Amino acid sequence: NKLVGLVGWRGMVGSVLMDRMQAEGDFELIEPLFFSTSNAGGAAPAMAKNETRLQNAYDIEALKRCDIILTAQGGDYTTEVFPKLRAAGWNGHWIDAASTLRMKDDAVIVLDPVNMPVIKNSLANGGKNWIGGNCTVSCMLIGVGALYKAGLVEWMSTQTYQAASGGGAQHMRELLTQFGTLNAEVRSLLDDPKSAILEIDRKIIAKQRSLSEAETANFGVPLGGSLIPWIDKDLGNGQSKEEWKGMAETNKILGQGEGFGSAAVPVDGFCVRIGAMRCHSQALTFKLKKDISTEEIEAMIAADNPWVKVVPNTREATIRDLTPVATTGTLTIPVGRIRKLAMGPEYVGAFTIGDQLLWGAAEPLRRMLRILLD
Ligand code: HSE
Repeated sequence: NKLVGLVGWRGMVGSVLMDRMQAEGDFELIEPLFFSTSNAGGAAPAMAKNETRLQNAYDIEALKRCDIILTAQGGDYTTEVFPKLRAAGWNGHWIDAASTLRMKDDAVIVLDPVNMPVIKNSLANGGKNWIGGNCTVSCMLIGVGALYKAGLVEWMSTQTYQAASGGGAQHMRELLTQFGTLNAEVRSLLDDPKSAILEIDRKIIAKQRSLSEAETANFGVPLGGSLIPWIDKDLGNGQSKEEWKGMAETNKILGQGEGFGSAAVPVDGFCVRIGAMRCHSQALTFKLKKDISTEEIEAMIAADNPWVKVVPNTREATIRDLTPVATTGTLTIPVGRIRKLAMGPEYVGAFTIGDQLLWGAAEPLRRMLRILLD
């Protein structure tokens, strides 16, 4: 069996990844070697076979033993370790959840239900660096990739509703702490059905505006009962880095645009943090290259892969099946609200949701591991 180094397996994405690997029997096909940045020499988790001690994740010689390294340790780790490892002559496969290497020419953003041809082509040409995509982009493409594959998309605008988990585990805790603080502030008024709603509202906004620094340490401002229309860095051109990723990564995943000698499909819009836990949602506007019927669009999307689920564009189906609460913890990518928009017959709207930790992070990585093991 191939020796597969696992780094960052204890964190949030790493834990979801370990669960999925166990559920799919991936450990039966590999010899896992567990690394740690803080506890080298400690006991490896139960999935370990012959290698039962944690290795030092900064030990280049130990890393060099691996045929494949799968890391969800984060971008700082990749920045520090990956160049040293390659410089030391390691020629194995590097599978990484962090964005550090994503846009490098010698890296493929892996999302095999969408870009297996791009992966296969790179493998045939000696590709060794396999990077998971931005969560929002990956979930979107599992949902509506069919329209891109068919070459139907002239451009797409996306407005996102991104969950706290995209920031990390601490962000999820902070959101819930804020909800609790706000609820506590007005609990006695809520218990009294005759209390005045504007009194409740006044107390809530006063509390939101006076939350302590400790209660907003991760998001910087209140998120509970509010939203934040900026995600990731300020690129200085009016665009957030998360918004930039939408176009850059979508095209790179599909193997088109800059570096592929073809035109990129414009993708742009606004990325917004909302108070959901771990599902990213997006309202999409497509300008298609031709007028095709809503039924045809639905059929193409539904047939694209086993995980996408078209939700009928009715109120009842939408509020039942097209929410973060319905989607969390599943590999299903619901796509609904599919309809022609008032701008003209080529303009199509859709709404899609994905678990940011599954298709948005862990799943494409473990699937890439399986591709390498085949
Ligand atoms: N940048 C994403 C977010 C994380 O903040 O929601 C997943 O790529």
